[in-house]
Amino acid sequence: MPRQLFVTTALPYANGKFHIGHIMEYIQADIWVRVQRMLGHQVHFVCADDAHGAPIMIAAEKAGLTPQQFVANIAAGRKEYLDGFHIGFDNWHSTDGVENHELAQDIYRGLRDNGLIEVRSIEQFFDPDKGMFLPDRFIKGECPKCGAKDQYGDSCENCGAVYSPTELKSPYSALSGATPVLRSSDHYFFKLSDPRCVEFLQNWTHETGKLQPEVLNKIKEWFTKDENGQGGLGDWDISRDAPYFGIEIPDAPGKYFYVWLDAPIGYLASLKNWFDKGGPKAKYGETRSYAEFIADPKVEQYHFIGKDITYFHTLFWPATLHFSGRKTPDNVFVHGFITVNGGEKMSKSRGTGIDPLKYLGLGMNPEWLRYYIAAKLNARVEDVDFNPDDFVLRVNSDLVGKYINIASRAAGFIAKRFEGRLSGDLGVEGRALLDTLRAHRDTVIGLYEAREFGKALREIMALADRVNEYVDAHKPWEIAKQPGQDAVLQDVCSVCIEAFRLLTIYLKPVLPALATQVEAFLQVEPLDFHSAARALGAHRIGAYQHLMQRVDPKLLEALFEPPAAPEPEKVIPGGEELAPEIKIDDFTQVDLRIARIVKAEAVEGSTKLLRLTLDVGEGPDPQGRPVYRNVFSGIASAYQPADLEGKLTVMVANLAPRKMKFGISEGMVLAASHADEKAQPGVFVLEPFPGAQPGMRVR
Ligand code: 2FM
Ligand code: ZN
Repeated sequence: MPRQLFVTTALPYANGKFHIGHIMEYIQADIWVRVQRMLGHQVHFVCADDAHGAPIMIAAEKAGLTPQQFVANIAAGRKEYLDGFHIGFDNWHSTDGVENHELAQDIYRGLRDNGLIEVRSIEQFFDPDKGMFLPDRFIKGECPKCGAKDQYGDSCENCGAVYSPTELKSPYSALSGATPVLRSSDHYFFKLSDPRCVEFLQNWTHETGKLQPEVLNKIKEWFTKDENGQGGLGDWDISRDAPYFGIEIPDAPGKYFYVWLDAPIGYLASLKNWFDKGGPKAKYGETRSYAEFIADPKVEQYHFIGKDITYFHTLFWPATLHFSGRKTPDNVFVHGFITVNGGEKMSKSRGTGIDPLKYLGLGMNPEWLRYYIAAKLNARVEDVDFNPDDFVLRVNSDLVGKYINIASRAAGFIAKRFEGRLSGDLGVEGRALLDTLRAHRDTVIGLYEAREFGKALREIMALADRVNEYVDAHKPWEIAKQPGQDAVLQDVCSVCIEAFRLLTIYLKPVLPALATQVEAFLQVEPLDFHSAARALGAHRIGAYQHLMQRVDPKLLEALFEPPAAPEPEKVIPGGEELAPEIKIDDFTQVDLRIARIVKAEAVEGSTKLLRLTLDVGEGPDPQGRPVYRNVFSGIASAYQPADLEGKLTVMVANLAPRKMKFGISEGMVLAASHADEKAQPGVFVLEPFPGAQPGMRVR
């Protein structure tokens, strides 16, 4: 009987593109799913966008879109990545779909009827400008421990302290800048501290052989109360107040489910959507409805997730399902993060490192990445490091050098010398080699099934080594030169082709597109694990075309090259280009002096000019009278004469006197203005720092 599997990856938030961390998770799950399918099992592999929550609502508002439009735009970009990396989800849906609204409300009613929902009033920061309660990450302020400024409401990036937003000093709203006020409001809690929940989760998480040992250890910590009776399983706040992009809580106007309540329900919603569209019927002749299918105890349910969301998936999620009368997951498979060059982790929030679309855009083969990631993955919660040199090595030496090479060494002879025909009988040694390859099938399957992909690939490459040893021992290129050795040549090459076919079966979950090419070349039906048992026999194969290129290391350099910074736009200071360069001598020709404005007066007949009487330290004259300069200056729009009198400024003191309509101007006062006075109005007279005296030269 084929197994029936329901498999998901985590649902990505619909507020950003995929980064390499998402792609790694999808590749891991996709390989595992393909293994199951190649064993003849029925798999429903689904995903969806995680659409709800305050961050998405706020991002949509910033973009000037409704949250629905915003999420739809993100969803439209998903296919390019999924197709590009051969990730074969059966269905992609959204947690904002109607199925999820119905399922979430139904599940909530189940919990409530079970007496596990409690309403409590809690105090929280409220943004009076925005009219909304603020999620922790939208409250900022000074760290209560170290005083660092602009820290988030839950923890300090400077000293690592963890606290609650109400402990922040001088808190402010990251949305509006307003000072938040404390307000109380009713919140709905899922009573996970209820003894029924605690007992259920203790049992569920400890079922033997279920969770990974590291995951179980973490869970034990989460269950444990400290000496003060703190910690342990707390009740879970599952409601948020309007405005919130989410699903309304039944019988609770203005209250919405916290995004993490409805997100995993989105797994079920996507599956339901897939059933309602008739997918399972078309694919497997499934006649049951979604409801019948999901209630079947024989159906197995698995979730692939990253380590950061273990808590939600191993505690909240099973409890949510169980206490609403539903089946719980058979397992949750947790993986680590992907790092680059041993460097910074690439989590969901910091999607740095390899840009998956750039990878594809450079024409890099997606199956290189699938192979490399698979080679690094195991069943533990370890981080995976992407190392460019290692990538080149594994693809070129293993994948191409060991595996692809087998076909390229044998196929030419079969095509040219035997019209594509393989031998029916392969000789004792050849058969023994092929038997060895077949004998490893179940080991390979077992490793894949256990998510020990790295070990599976090592096993397969060790088999490829044996085949290459066989080729090296028989040297078909030499047999080909010997007269009368045609039958031997055909046998040896046929062994190689059959060995290549077997290795292709084993690699197919990792390299599905390549396997399709191989099937066309071998002229065989789609390969699965059962096809390993039957040899091709006297079969005719097609013409060999090169199956896979080696990686050019330059491509990795290009991949990691930071995107070229956009040509900086030339900034024109003050609205005008700088004047041509001058020498210091040119500058010293201009004699600038400190001047005291002795008198300032309006000029009759001019709205622009003020008449200034300036003391530039030139007096007194031999008769003991002060010596002043008379200067007309176009600053009447900016200054009241009285405000200028007594102030110091700077003037050009060696400017040739200029005859004007109102008199002679004996110099020029310095003032700043923007070239486009309409765009940026204002004239600003220069004033020296205190201490300058009339007559001092400015240099
Ligand atoms: O951490 C995340 O990216 C969440 N969007 C994962 C949700 S998984 C499931 F619960 F939907
Ligand atoms: Zn701090």
